[in-house]
Amino acid sequence: MRIDVVTIFPDYLAPLDLSLIGRARREGLLEVHVHDLRHWTHDRHRTVDDTPYGGGAGMVMRPEPWGEALDEVCGALPGRTPHLVVPGPGGDLFTQARARQMATEDDWLVFVCGRYEGIDERVHDEFSARYPLSVLSLGDYVLNGGEVAVLAMTEAIARLVPGVIGNVASLVEESHEDGLLEYPVYTKPQQWRGHEVPPVLLSGHHGQIARWRHEQQLERTAARRPDLLAGRGPQGD
Ligand code: ADE
Repeated sequence: MRIDVVTIFPDYLAPLDLSLIGRARREGLLEVHVHDLRHWTHDRHRTVDDTPYGGGAGMVMRPEPWGEALDEVCGALPGRTPHLVVPGPGGDLFTQARARQMATEDDWLVFVCGRYEGIDERVHDEFSARYPLSVLSLGDYVLNGGEVAVLAMTEAIARLVPGVIGNVASLVEESHEDGLLEYPVYTKPQQWRGHEVPPVLLSGHHGQIARWRHEQQLERTAARRPDLLAGRGPQGD
């Protein structure tokens, strides 16, 4: 999978060199290119923003640098079509299902990182007419820009690309993969500061362990995220 990120803060994306994502890049499973939007400005101050038409607080990102940047970045692989992703609090919710869909169906993502009050809407109009384009939100809160969201989305998507995570079974038993939160996990020692490991986990009885874990998933989900259980039957399925 290829990922391009256009931003005015390329250094923000440095963590993409680390850990599993960094290794996936070195192994050639993932190709990441980070671009500085100011490369496509032409004035002495490398201006990317201006005051909003109609008035109001804050600044808006001007369309011209974005137009030139996306023309070049999206045209870099003739014959291939990128999926443009604009992170923003006004977008569709980015979920595990969405991450899986993108890991499966997309082989090229171009992330468009807005700052300030946002990007001139005509950039959206221009490029959504030329490419598939999604506005995606991490959740109902406001970040200062799209960069942190790109880190989160890239990690969520890239770890689902075949080969990026060695232990495939660990992907199946995670929170949200079956619509439930994950069950609690324990390791050695068996006693720690007076806290015991639940005895069923020491029983060696795989059927009972699986049942207990499923009950724990249901209890946790009911307590923390009852919205996820809506539409399920009384057994949680
Ligand atoms: N940019 C600003 N807020 C955001 C959010 N909640 N999700 C994604 N991108 C954002």
